Amino acid sequence: MSVFNATRLLGKTVLVTGASSGIGAATAILFARGGANVILVARRIDALKTVTDACIAAHKESGLNQGGKFASVQVDVSDKAQVAGLWDKVPQDLRNVDVLVNNAGYVLGVEHAGDIADADIEGMFATNVLGLISVTQLLIKDFKVRKSGHVINIGSIAGREPYAGGSIYTATKHAVRAFTGSIMRELVNTPIRVTEVQPGMVETEFSIVRYRGDTNAAAKVYDGLQPLTAGDIAEEIVWVASRPPHVNVAELFVMPVNQASATINYRGPK
Ligand SMILES: NC(=O)c1ccc[n+]([C@@H]2O[C@H](COP(=O)([O-])OP(=O)(O)OC[C@H]3O[C@@H](n4cnc5c(N)ncnc54)[C@H](OP(=O)(O)O)[C@@H]3O)[C@@H](O)[C@H]2O)c1
Repeated sequence: MSVFNATRLLGKTVLVTGASSGIGAATAILFARGGANVILVARRIDALKTVTDACIAAHKESGLNQGGKFASVQVDVSDKAQVAGLWDKVPQDLRNVDVLVNNAGYVLGVEHAGDIADADIEGMFATNVLGLISVTQLLIKDFKVRKSGHVINIGSIAGREPYAGGSIYTATKHAVRAFTGSIMRELVNTPIRVTEVQPGMVETEFSIVRYRGDTNAAAKVYDGLQPLTAGDIAEEIVWVASRPPHVNVAELFVMPVNQASATINYRGPK
């Protein structure tokens, strides 16, 4: 935690979507270690509870006497009614959120346009774009009233660069980038901060989901290359959130050292 000014996180309340695995889980745990309260949101409640237990342990280990309140909230962000009912599942003392981390998202398949199932197209847009927007809409109203808050959207290298086999996913992440840039401009006359973190290759459940549970296919994505870990991106997110209030990190694009674009990477000598 030495790179973070922990005092800026003490007692803050952070809401992380997609906190049941990968980047979201690592982020929730790191905020817990920094003395924040965390609302963990995802669909798999058992996985959320396991991550919440890890948050409790991390907070205890930190020895900090602020923060340390956690809530596991089962919400499918692609379901507008569930998003609208989110506060009903959050204890009263955690409802003043300081930092929103819009992280829930996924990619399904590598099919090319013409062969992509409608359900996959609709699911990716419903979660990555509409879900992110619904959660932002819910929280940003309150940020404006309280004249404080930080929206951290998890975009992707796929939001900067299209690639074959990723037409729908890259379209959703380009939409996230456009939405994030627009709200940053809308909020320029407020203290509310808006950030987009854009990871390159991170080894999480992401590729397992993409290859529909085929762990061998997922492992090949990282063959011969050291990918980022969920913890690497969590450190970036917590760093962004712990800058002084007048500093807004607008975009943060982070790749493994042997990745140079969505399709250019070095996998070592064969
Ligand atoms: N891994 C990478 O290489 C990479 C690179 C760039 C950007 N990203 C982005 O990073 C974010 C996190 O991905 P990850 O790599 O950590 O993958 P992951 O391990 O698969 O985590 C995805 C998280 O999103 C949640 N989620 C998915 N659909 C949801 C929904 N409808 N409602 C609520 N939660 C939902 C999942 O939880 P439940 O299944 O329990 O709902 C899970 O917690 C995503 O936005 C992804 O696009 C990842």
